[in-house]
Amino acid sequence: MSQADLMTRLNQVIGRKYDKPKLSRWENGKEPVPTEVQAALARMLEAKPANAQVLVLANQKGGVGKTTSAMNIAGSLARLGLRVLMIDLDPQATVTTGLLASAAVDAYRRGRTMAHVILGDTALGDIIIKQGEILADGRAVPFDLAASHIELSETDGKREPGFDVAVREALEPVRGAYDWIVIDAPPNLGMLTWMALAAAELVIIPVRTEPFDTMGVGLILGTINKVQRRLNPSLRLAGILPTQFDRRKSVDREVLAHLSGSLGAVAPLLSPVPNSAVFGHAARNGRLVVDVSSTSAAAGVYRELAVALSKGTALPRADLQSLVQQLQEEPTHGPH
Ligand SMILES: Nc1ncnc2c1ncn2[C@@H]1O[C@H](COP(=O)(O)OP(=O)(O)O)[C@@H](O)[C@H]1O
Ligand SMILES: [Mg+2]
Repeated sequence: MSQADLMTRLNQVIGRKYDKPKLSRWENGKEPVPTEVQAALARMLEAKPANAQVLVLANQKGGVGKTTSAMNIAGSLARLGLRVLMIDLDPQATVTTGLLASAAVDAYRRGRTMAHVILGDTALGDIIIKQGEILADGRAVPFDLAASHIELSETDGKREPGFDVAVREALEPVRGAYDWIVIDAPPNLGMLTWMALAAAELVIIPVRTEPFDTMGVGLILGTINKVQRRLNPSLRLAGILPTQFDRRKSVDREVLAHLSGSLGAVAPLLSPVPNSAVFGHAARNGRLVVDVSSTSAAAGVYRELAVALSKGTALPRADLQSLVQQLQEEPTHGPH
């Protein structure tokens, strides 16, 4: 690793802008090495050779928090010092346009999108946009990006042998360069979602705590089941992630209790992400909540999730006991 690479990695991990002269002053003992730098370097030294785990955020419903969760989990994993690749597999390209803004068009012109990988024959390694090249609102993003483009919507019309494992195949040569690969799937159960599931070890299903949103969970569960049976037996359902949860609303708490009752045996019900204005604010600026509102409760949920994923420990679960208690204390359940 060159000195420049080291500084880039270090700044990425701790979210600072230290330069090379600073490194020289630390080396010469002219300035003490800050404790956060010492801790980050220690973490980086512990890092094992990479063989990326692939996590996909999937649900055929739109607006449930797939993209938001993918970005903030990827960002949290990167801030832990892990090497992360974010793959935008949604033709709507929300991640891509959010992070690259007008440069998204340029990425397409230069042949650097997932459309070129899946519909053309470009290697994934050749389309990856390095984190240093991505400046969201003037600041570097902590992970690399495989961009999307609307043309990716033509995937469903293409047929070729073994097409549903095309993403898995494309990932093979880059797995060694990352600790985590996070895939943002599109809002349907078409070929791109199958491809994402066929390539992944873990899937998280984000679900809004809205009565109608929970009804479709069975559909994505059925798809996951088929992918497990037919294409990818190592795929594991890591959990259902309730999003936009407002604990003051009894409807939201009821939906959570219902999700736990109906799906608790199938998958862990994870700690809900609170409904919060910080997401709108961050999204408008192409930034991550875990970066711009790092002390918010919402950022805390994503961070804890990332810590558990990185350690391979059980993911934080929804605290249903306190919910049930709240429901009992409040017998009037709102308008439905
Ligand atoms: N916990 C949350 N609280 C408030 N707004 C949220 C939350 N999570 C996501 N959003 C907002 O909801 C909208 C849809 O989220 P998004 O992640 O794009 O969903 P999807 O990718 O499933 O379509 C976005 O405007 C996003 O900023
Ligand atoms: Mg999305």
